[in-house]
Order: sequence, then C-alpha cells, then structure tokens
Amino acid sequence: MNLGVAGSVPLHRLPWFGHPRNEEIFSMTQQSQAVSAAAAGIVTLGDLTVNRLGYGAMRITGKGIWGPPADHAAAIATLRRTVELGVNFIDTADSYGPYVSEELIAEALAPYPDGLVIATKGGWERVGPGQWIHNASPSHLEEAVEGSLKRLRLERIDVYQLHIPDPAVSFDASMETLARLREQGKIRHIGLSNVTLEHLERARKIVPIVSVQNRYSFADREWDFLLEACTRYGIAFIPWAPLGQNRLAQEALDQAARTLGATPLQVALAWLLERSPVILPIPGTSSVAHLEENVAAASLRLPTHVRKELSEVTSPHASLR
Ligand SMILES: NC(=O)c1ccc[n+]([C@@H]2O[C@H](COP(=O)([O-])OP(=O)(O)OC[C@H]3O[C@@H](n4cnc5c(N)ncnc54)[C@H](OP(=O)(O)O)[C@@H]3O)[C@@H](O)[C@H]2O)c1
Repeated sequence: MNLGVAGSVPLHRLPWFGHPRNEEIFSMTQQSQAVSAAAAGIVTLGDLTVNRLGYGAMRITGKGIWGPPADHAAAIATLRRTVELGVNFIDTADSYGPYVSEELIAEALAPYPDGLVIATKGGWERVGPGQWIHNASPSHLEEAVEGSLKRLRLERIDVYQLHIPDPAVSFDASMETLARLREQGKIRHIGLSNVTLEHLERARKIVPIVSVQNRYSFADREWDFLLEACTRYGIAFIPWAPLGQNRLAQEALDQAARTLGATPLQVALAWLLERSPVILPIPGTSSVAHLEENVAAASLRLPTHVRKELSEVTSPHASLR
C-alpha cells in the first residue's frame, strides 16, 4: 500500500498554495467570525465525544517524518494553538519521528485539558527518514503501547490505532493483543488504519472498533465504500491526507473557492465534513497560520448546488495513479 508519506509532493509546492489571494480571503474570514473547531459539530468515539475537525501531528517532526522539527518553538506553538481553537482530537503515532510527535504533544499540552483526546498508533518501526518497517507482532504492540503511555504521560490511551496490518503477522493476533491491552486498562478504545472492509469486519468480531483511518479526500475517494460502511456502523472515519492533491481537484476547488470567498483547502475540508457525519478530518501542519486557515473551514457551509457540483467531479484517483 502506498502510504504517501515519503516521496509525495508537498502541498505547499502546488500552484494554489501561498497565492496572495488566499491569504487575503483567509484574513477576511478570520475577521468576520471566531475560528473554532466546534463549528464542525461533533463525532463520537465510543463513549468519547470530540469536535469534528481534528489535528494530525505528523508534520511537527523533522524532514521525512524523522527526528526533531526544524523549529521546535513553532511546533510547540502550533500544538498549543490547536487547543485554543477548540480542537480536541489530536492524531499521532509512535513512528512519527519516531517518538518525536508524541514527546512534543506531551511537552506542549500535558497535563492535558479535560476533553482532549489523543489518538496514537503502533505497527510501524522506523530505521531512517522516510523508511517504515512493518511490525504488528503481539510483543511489539505490547512494548509500543507501554512506550506511548510513557511518552504521552498518560495512564490510559483514549484511542489506540493499529497503524497498518502487518503482512507477516496474523491480523487476528494483532487485534487480540490490542483487545487484551484494552482489558488491562491501558487502552480505552481501539481504531484501525490502512485497512480493507474485510479487516474491519474481522476486527469487529474480536473487539469493538471506534474508528478507521484511511487515506481519503476530495481528490482521492478510493475508500468511499469503507467510508460508507463506517457511516452505517456509526464508526468515526478519519481521513488522512485530507487536503488532497492533484490538478483536477485543484481546478474544481479553485472555482468553488472563488464563488464562496474561501480558500481551496477550506473548500476541500468543508466538502469532507459534509460528505458524512462520521468523518473527522485531521489536517496536518507545522504552521499556526495554516492551522488557523484549516480550522476556519469548520464554519464553511457549501451551498447545495456547489456541494453537488463538487461531488460530481469524477474522482481523479483511478486515472492519475
Ligand atoms: N494512518 C496513516 O497511515 C497516516 C499517513 C499519513 C498521515 N496520517 C495522519 O494524517 C494527518 C494528515 O495527513 P498529512 O499531513 O499527510 O496530509 P494533509 O493534512 O492533507 O497535508 C499536510 C500538508 O499540507 C500542508 N498544509 C496544511 N495546511 C495548509 C494550508 N492551510 N495551506 C498550505 N499548506 C498547508 C502542510 O504543510 P505545512 O506544515 O507547511 O502547513 C503539509 O505539507 C497526519 O498529520 C497524520 O496525523 C496518517
């Protein structure tokens, strides 16, 4: 499976990013209303409820999701600003850095404010920048959960996600391990990531699943059928790389953004939020300004005709891969 972590085109290099018109529009949006993730509504994760616009903490590490960030103070400031903006769901993983993202979250935010849900993941080992090695063996997952508990300074992890099924390990064995850790009180709820519908069905026979995190965006709807299953089951669907990236998507988003006085990325996030009530986008950024722009999308409503036109744009995923 292509995880799009290494070798993907950084979005800020794409033509519509950083265009002065976007900055101007964003500052107009900011002036006219308070920016809050709460405007996106809520979604449940088992017995937890969070605002339906979260934050992905992968981008606060070094280049290649390896090592410390180039600007430590900016990473801490970005994390602190998430909470000020009403974000109460932060996604991370032990493999981001590795360990760096979890350590920065604890440094910036512990002791955590009430209601803040930190969702971490295990199942990858890191040997270098951009390099990811599967390991979802029972012994590794047990160690990984202990490590995340320590780094995040938590007694129990609210949402622990299997980062990706390990082709060398029985999927059931990975899930049974997480179920055991949940029974031991180390994990509150279990989520999946980078899975198929078959994985979801199998996992649900072993333990309750509260979330699925797969790549999904306006520009990439490959996992539509899995999103539909999550919507039916009332399981949160956490799209990673939610901002999307490709030329066809850009043209459609540009046009809608011009009509609505928003930025194309805000339109992409608003489209996601309206696509299903279980969608919980986690746009990732290392910049406070981008974070504020993304969270402001929580207040953007797409008129019916714009939503319809955007939804009818043929998913470019299949033709461009
Ligand atoms: N489960 C998995 O396998 C998996 C894989 C990948 C990611 N994830 C999770 O999903 C989260 C989001 O995915 P992602 O970070 O890959 O993709 P993304 O959120 O779609 O895009 C992030 C990229 O967009 C840029 N960006 C963000 N907001 C922007 C704005 N308003 N204007 C211009 N550029 C902007 C960021 O750069 P700047 O830092 O310059 O803003 C960064 O390069 C990650 O943080 C991580 O938590 C999970």
